[in-house]
Amino acid sequence: MSLKTVEWRDNKVVMIDQTKLPNELVYVEFADYNEVANAIKTMVVRGAPAIGVSGAFGLALAALQSKAETKDDLIEDLEKAKKILFETRPTAVNLGWGLEKVMKVARKEYDVSDIKESVINTAKQMAEDDVKTNMSMGKHGSELFANNDNILTHCNAGALATVAYGTALGVIRATKESGKKIKVIATETRPVQQGSRLTAFELKHDGIDVNLIPDTAVGYTMANGLVNKVIVGADRILRMGHVFNKIGTYQIATMAKQHEIPFYVAAPLSTFDLKSNPEDVVIEQRKPTEVTGEGDRRTAPDGIGVINPAFDMTPPEFITGIITEAGIAKPPFEESIKKLFEAN
Ligand code: MRU
Repeated sequence: MSLKTVEWRDNKVVMIDQTKLPNELVYVEFADYNEVANAIKTMVVRGAPAIGVSGAFGLALAALQSKAETKDDLIEDLEKAKKILFETRPTAVNLGWGLEKVMKVARKEYDVSDIKESVINTAKQMAEDDVKTNMSMGKHGSELFANNDNILTHCNAGALATVAYGTALGVIRATKESGKKIKVIATETRPVQQGSRLTAFELKHDGIDVNLIPDTAVGYTMANGLVNKVIVGADRILRMGHVFNKIGTYQIATMAKQHEIPFYVAAPLSTFDLKSNPEDVVIEQRKPTEVTGEGDRRTAPDGIGVINPAFDMTPPEFITGIITEAGIAKPPFEESIKKLFEAN
């Protein structure tokens, strides 16, 4: 089994501290939802599905922490916690999805102890479902990959970005499990290095052949025949097929189109936002120090401006297919995405 990123154990949330990887595999334990909110903000836990489940577990802690004696007071405490958890990261739609799913269950119950129990059970169920969803995404997606494929991936859409198994890396795992021989190229993913710190770490952990490249070598690998397919995850997918994912995804998709290399996205249905238009989506802007240095080492002069968006948008015309747990959407995406949702 691949790494377990986040779980509920003895009324606490236990997660891998991803800021410490790849040097140390350390687990942290939280009993306060404010600590979970801080862990999401500081990227102790990150990746769209993982923060969705972490948010839900945060609400489960908030339910346990609440001293409320009436339903109304407990719902008020949960709404307050939901707001704090929701404001941690704006782009991945799974966070709001996970929080709202738990709140819906809470609002339906009548007394305090039933609400607490249902909130905890719903969050635990979401964690279990996440693994099943990824396995079924992997099964669908593995059909698109062949023996001896050289697959490029960006950021980390693996076990560490979900509860376990992963979305894009789940497809890679399932392809390998189906007996096909594959090689993976992982981009470093500046500035937070999810590719080198996390993707390379978990693929090595699972014995999958991985080569690391600097982000700047994507064009080189494609021009020199080192890559024949691309697969990435997503933080938000709109109804027409616009994909918001880790900064740099758009560049890779553009380069893939130039070299006629299929570009796939793997994401659960909980990553889709069928209501928003591209201009409505808030792109998280992160602190300049992520770009001006590495740890304590300064790599840029003082007093300069920095632009540090965490995500970008890849338009539908760059995407060959979107792999979900319910099947694969192909262009035209407006139609195929609608069909996937109608069938589910
Ligand atoms: O900033 P991060 O590390 O949370 O960004 C993660 C990504 O962009 C992933 O590709 C995305 O969340 C999909 S994870 C299955």
